[in-house]
Amino acid sequence: MSLKGRDVVSAKDLSRGEVELLIDEAERLRDMLKYERPLHIANGKVVMTVFLEPSTRTRLSFQYAATYLGALAMDFGATEISSIQKGESFEDTMRMVDGYGPDAIVLRQSVPGNAAKAAEICSSPVINAGDGANEHPTQALLDVYTIRRELGRIDGVSVGIMGDLRYGRTVKSLSLMLDKFNGVRIFYIAPKALQIRQDVLNELRNVKSELVENVEEVAKELDVLYVTRIQKERFADPSEYERLKGSYNINRKLLEGLPRIPIIMHPLPRVDELSPDVDQLPQAKYFEQAKNGLYMRMALLKEVLGI
Ligand code: NCD
Repeated sequence: MSLKGRDVVSAKDLSRGEVELLIDEAERLRDMLKYERPLHIANGKVVMTVFLEPSTRTRLSFQYAATYLGALAMDFGATEISSIQKGESFEDTMRMVDGYGPDAIVLRQSVPGNAAKAAEICSSPVINAGDGANEHPTQALLDVYTIRRELGRIDGVSVGIMGDLRYGRTVKSLSLMLDKFNGVRIFYIAPKALQIRQDVLNELRNVKSELVENVEEVAKELDVLYVTRIQKERFADPSEYERLKGSYNINRKLLEGLPRIPIIMHPLPRVDELSPDVDQLPQAKYFEQAKNGLYMRMALLKEVLGI
């Protein structure tokens, strides 16, 4: 595989083989970090994080990933202290960021398609860390990495993806990522108003999908239940958000009433769709999943930096 210098804007930018190699690389780096930290394999490289939308996990895990590889992690800082506040355009901002010569740019912003635009503007490789309701490919990488670690395989798994499927970018990227594998079934579980968009379904080639409203309908089929929060910030009409908020909740009582409990994943942050009383169940994997993000992002940066 050579990901050297490549942009990663969509889950579609990676082949199945590349995803599998990244998973193996993440496992290797995880092991290596037990003995040495930082690893000094990216000395002198500079990774620039540009987060124009809120983030905890994605921003920090990329910064830690760069640091643990031995690279320098530079951060753009909050938009409030940048010239965006003075009215500088996205295009000019990205041209400037690129001009200083970072070896990779990790970008999050709210306009769907602007990650691709940045990739065109910038000569440095651009990694999309979320472009509005469109995609979040590195989250999908750590999601399939978590599934492989927990279940030993990705082929043939049945995944229930629950919550705000309409606006959730992790949902789209995870669907595209799972579509690279064989025999995967996805159950999209959501109230009608939040169901998966047809344009996402149209892109799936391999996955067998089914749309349902309640988890109970499909619980016995599931190996994984991937819960997502309502994407409050994407609603044009706040009253629609108010109407839908609290419309689904996964809690311990509900899970213990199912014929079997699947592993529970969540990209985080959670709000009220996943109760803290689930955390103690052995099937709760979301904090582990977030930690896996560090190793997967180390693997991805290592490959994109070509080291
Ligand atoms: C997700 C995102 O930003 O899309 N968060 C993350 O990166 N782990 C999910 C979310 O915000 O709901």
